[in-house]
Amino acid sequence: MGKVFVQTFGCQMNVYDTGKIHALLGKDGYEPTESMDDADVIIVNTCSIREKPELKLHSFLGEALKIKRTQDRPVTVAVAGCVAQQEGDKLLKRYRELDLVFGPDAVPRVRDLVSAAGSEVPRATKQVLDTQFLDLDTYVFASDLDPASEGQVGAFVTIQKGCDNKCTFCIVPSTRGPEVSRPSDQIVAEVQALVDTGVREITLIGQNVNSYGLKVAGERTFAQLLYAVSDVKGVERIRYTTSHPRDMGPDVIQAYRDLPKLTSHLHLPVQSGSSRVLRRMKRFYTRERFLDVVEQLKDARPDIVLSTDFIVGFPGESDEDFEETMTLLDIVGFESSFSFKYSQRPDTPALRLLKHEVPHDVAQARLMRLQARQREISRQANEALAGQTHAVLVEGPSRYDEGVVCGRTSTFKIVNFPGSLDQIGHTVDVSIIAGFTNSLRGEPALFA
Ligand code: 5AD
Ligand code: SF4
Repeated sequence: MGKVFVQTFGCQMNVYDTGKIHALLGKDGYEPTESMDDADVIIVNTCSIREKPELKLHSFLGEALKIKRTQDRPVTVAVAGCVAQQEGDKLLKRYRELDLVFGPDAVPRVRDLVSAAGSEVPRATKQVLDTQFLDLDTYVFASDLDPASEGQVGAFVTIQKGCDNKCTFCIVPSTRGPEVSRPSDQIVAEVQALVDTGVREITLIGQNVNSYGLKVAGERTFAQLLYAVSDVKGVERIRYTTSHPRDMGPDVIQAYRDLPKLTSHLHLPVQSGSSRVLRRMKRFYTRERFLDVVEQLKDARPDIVLSTDFIVGFPGESDEDFEETMTLLDIVGFESSFSFKYSQRPDTPALRLLKHEVPHDVAQARLMRLQARQREISRQANEALAGQTHAVLVEGPSRYDEGVVCGRTSTFKIVNFPGSLDQIGHTVDVSIIAGFTNSLRGEPALFA
């Protein structure tokens, strides 16, 4: 029937929601298209975590609405995701030709929404809005498989939506609403269904996965969920994101001893190395407690590789505070990180701290220093892998060279090595011959 184009900005949650949108609209006969010009429905799935990604929406919408205006068939233009939730009606007022605005909680209802907003007449607009939050009792997770993830090597599976934390810089609690855990039986069933299509690696996703299940009587905890997913035959690797250092309990750490399928990589956002800043961020852990968690993880899984997120220039961050972030980076030896300058977000508690705002050039200089040091650490860690053999799950052809395939180690490092496309989906032993800042080069391991 029709064609749908979805542009995705932002995090793994949006990637997952886009997959669900495709799966659900597919039931009404909509096929995905790569070209906006061909589309009958254009959806932009937006991110508002920082100011920069939010700005992308406006240039994208300009283009999409131009297409709607110039086609002689009806085109429905929709804004989804966190900016949709946050701005709601304001978007419809600002863009009079926009057909539909729906928040993350409305994704399961996308079929009805698209049909309600659609029109038979070219260029006509009805303007439909759905930014309702659903809670534990009313939220229904869509369990339809994203057609794009079927048969892929890796797939995301959502285990929870929303967040009940109140980190003072973060807009997520107001755009994604209260935390709701998806029933674990449904998660396990989705994992099984994905494995049946050929998926080998499952990434469990949520805003704060460690608190999974705690608010539902009789539900599995996050650690128990890891064991249940590990029991699914055909799953080779399990990853998860994002976890909160405060909630990294002994049961999850124990899973690193017990579950070989749980990979040796953990993304554990620390945000800052200064306990004073962490307190103002309301992260509810100190530098010392974070280092203690890291020690326990390394004890449970000696080859574990950690990555993290940093915010620099949070209001009130002094030179000394920032130095503590720099030393933490070295002590933990994060092998990669995402780092951002603090970005003011509407209606977040940190706005109250703005009288201590860090000047832009100071924040920028700190960011550059942090990123330069991170690149050094990443490169050194990767160079040190030369000579080792790693099991690599092959994901696809290399983007650059013919006859070269690309996969990942358990520790989440990208490895390019000479191989063939029939290795995709298989785990092969690879000798690492060189390490660079963001990837490794290898050759097939030879057996005597
Ligand atoms: N400013 C800068 N970075 C932010 N993040 C979240 N909110 C903000 C903000 N207001 C970063 C955090 C988080 C990551 C997903 O985005 O580091 O872990
Ligand atoms: Fe935002 Fe904190 Fe929730 Fe993560 S845990 S989504 S940073 S409020």
